Amino acid sequence: MLIDKKYILRFKGIQTPFYFYNIELLKETLQEIKREISFHKNYLVHYAIKANANPKLLQLIAQAGFGADCVSGGEIQRALKTGFSPSKIVFAGVGKSDWEINLGLDNDIFCFNVESEPELEVINELAKAKGKIASVAFRINPNIGAHTHANITTGLAENKFGIAMDDIERIIQKAERLSHVHILGLHFHIGSQILEMNDFIVLCQRINLLICQLKQNHHQLKHINVGGGLGIDYEQPDKHPIPNFSSYFNTYAKYLNLSDEQQLHFELGRAIVGQCGSLITRTLYVKQGATRQFIIVDAGMTDLIRPALYQAHHLIENLSSDGDLEKYDVVGPICESSDVFAKDILLPKTNRGDLIALHSAGAYGEIMASQYNCRPLPQNYTSEELSDVKP
Ligand code: LLP
Repeated sequence: MLIDKKYILRFKGIQTPFYFYNIELLKETLQEIKREISFHKNYLVHYAIKANANPKLLQLIAQAGFGADCVSGGEIQRALKTGFSPSKIVFAGVGKSDWEINLGLDNDIFCFNVESEPELEVINELAKAKGKIASVAFRINPNIGAHTHANITTGLAENKFGIAMDDIERIIQKAERLSHVHILGLHFHIGSQILEMNDFIVLCQRINLLICQLKQNHHQLKHINVGGGLGIDYEQPDKHPIPNFSSYFNTYAKYLNLSDEQQLHFELGRAIVGQCGSLITRTLYVKQGATRQFIIVDAGMTDLIRPALYQAHHLIENLSSDGDLEKYDVVGPICESSDVFAKDILLPKTNRGDLIALHSAGAYGEIMASQYNCRPLPQNYTSEELSDVKP
């Protein structure tokens, strides 16, 4: 069992579906990252709030000293409310509204990751109106494919993200002439759920070339932000509850040529929160169809959309039964054929009322939930909250 028996006893009295967060695992993961970056000079990690903005988790991550990577005004507000220092907030996104830029300026956030020339002009204008200087980094589109799902690849020339490599020199020169922006450095992010270190090596090589080229023209870039993207083991979360941060950070240390004055920033999301969350659901019916046997659970694609959207695999466990294995499709109650969590999987003989866990759902799970079909949003509980409750 991936979840301690004492919690499963508590689950019985709770309305499903809900997210359950293993706070001990989150704390261990945060400690492991802190330990690993302490071996490197000038490495800073900003947690990518888009992965999970649950305040209970955010408070812990902020307390552990991490920065925040935000992609909207709402995320900046959430970050500030949960204790992240504005001086550790980076703000990315291809379409920042004026109110969002103003919010960043009013709070003196660390950096705007600028994704286009017109955005640079707007930031300069808005900063001027406030008599402030906006710190900016340029998000580069390095034209690198990552070995991951097409929907979560972001660094290809065809993607909407970032400034093309060929335009960067001209845009930096332009920014140097603008009165209300200050250039901090460069920003990259090639995709998510990346397990092949070689993808990050290719990114390092591309960055080295670019820094070299920009240096020749006397552009000093103190901050390099390589985004996030480190994947997690969805197949065997029990074997790899904490990702291999050592090999991740060492890859950058080995392949990226940085000077002693330069700082390296990371924006990890999934690798921090992915494994600590499970979606807990109840079996409503076991139905024998014409050709397949279905477990119909009370969670649907509205609670966890990743399988429907990216054909993502989440390990499914029956927490209530250890009967003989049978073949099932596990599906939700939503009126969409894509509302399927898994097909043809072996699970112990399942009955109405059995609790089912979908693991590795801490990242891009609860935060992507919707109210389609007028369904309520899923509730959430932490291991700490459930430890206190008597069975
Ligand atoms: N930085 C930027 C600029 C990003 O766009 C992202 C993720 C991250 C950092 C964090 O990436 P991570 O370390 O979590 O891989 N909903 C999808 C994932 C979308 C990722 C979007 N950008 C999923 O469920 O797989």
